[in-house]
Amino acid sequence: MAAQTASVVGASGFTGGELCRLLAGHPELSLTQATSRQYSRKTVGHVHPNLRGMELRFSPPDELESVDVLFAATPHGVSMDRIDRFRDVADTVVDLSADFRLNTEEQYEQFYDGHSRPELLSESVYGLPELTREALPGASLIASGGCNATATILGLKPLVDAGILGNDERIVVDVKVGSSEGGAGGGESSSHPERSGVVRPYAPTGHRHEAEIEQFVGPVSFTVHAVEMVRGASATCHVFPDEPVTTGDLWGAFREAYDDEPFVRLVSGGGGVYRYPEPKAVAGTNIAEVGFEIDPSNGRIVVFSAIDNMMKGSAGQAIHATNIALGFEERAGLQFQGLHPVGAP
Ligand SMILES: NC(=O)c1ccc[n+]([C@@H]2O[C@H](COP(=O)([O-])OP(=O)(O)OC[C@H]3O[C@@H](n4cnc5c(N)ncnc54)[C@H](OP(=O)(O)O)[C@@H]3O)[C@@H](O)[C@H]2O)c1
Repeated sequence: MAAQTASVVGASGFTGGELCRLLAGHPELSLTQATSRQYSRKTVGHVHPNLRGMELRFSPPDELESVDVLFAATPHGVSMDRIDRFRDVADTVVDLSADFRLNTEEQYEQFYDGHSRPELLSESVYGLPELTREALPGASLIASGGCNATATILGLKPLVDAGILGNDERIVVDVKVGSSEGGAGGGESSSHPERSGVVRPYAPTGHRHEAEIEQFVGPVSFTVHAVEMVRGASATCHVFPDEPVTTGDLWGAFREAYDDEPFVRLVSGGGGVYRYPEPKAVAGTNIAEVGFEIDPSNGRIVVFSAIDNMMKGSAGQAIHATNIALGFEERAGLQFQGLHPVGAP
């Protein structure tokens, strides 16, 4: 039995299922409660067939037990309403929704429908370990970074840190996402006949993740397409620097940022079929792939970043942040590679 206990609220959903999978193999955390309103008292494997055999049944979310860490994998708005109860039963709360990701109440008014507990925003730590590692040890409220935001920020932040990007360059970001981003109850637009074969601009402007991205890399022009994948987010960032940049400058910036990072792989123009970041190559893992090219005709930098939205974009990243917060080995429970060959993830 692992030393510390964990629960997942919203465990019947997609990211909740991933948390259950990861916690089942975690050396330091033991999953003791998984909640669902719809499937209360049914086994976890009843909803998540990959977890058949797990000896745990869903319980209703109003019967929370005391644990060391509570993961909330619930829709936007639930955590901010229930945060006091979550913190009553757990020393550490890790929220996968957007409820505690932004810095100010004004941002929630602009991008969401306001916030019911704005006084907690300064207390929560954004969970994107490559950028916020220093703030995570001992954090008691962690807001795991959003999927499209994570892919985009990981692609652009090395350019900011290296001084290649200031505050006034034009940045255009195009993200392609899989259907699991919409959650298990994705609705009509995610039903198989409607989703099959699409390349659908679903958030041409004003996507909520712009706010998260701007907190780390400044303003971006951001568009998201729904494409035919189940898992995956692939960000293509077009950057128009003020000063000319060489390929060597870019390798320097990205190596400096990621050489010591356990969950970031630089993939840029090598040989073989998969020469740039590819969601299929990271499906099921907590790995982000990042790569880049320079367009010699106009100096444009194009940066690619690929993640599994339910892993590096949510559940995996939440576990990584928790490992750091609680002083575990950073990679605990996350040290596995993906599959190859594999069908559409
Ligand atoms: N999907 C992704 O790729 C992704 C990536 C990053 C972040 N996120 C964020 O993570 C959160 C979960 O996303 P998801 O895709 O896993 O959603 P989902 O598949 O729709 O799952 C949501 C879960 O929350 C439960 N739930 C709903 N309302 C609740 C309430 N009022 N009280 C308690 N439980 C409630 C649902 O189960 P019952 O109805 O049975 O209780 C279900 O288990 C969202 O905030 C989402 O924005 C998702």
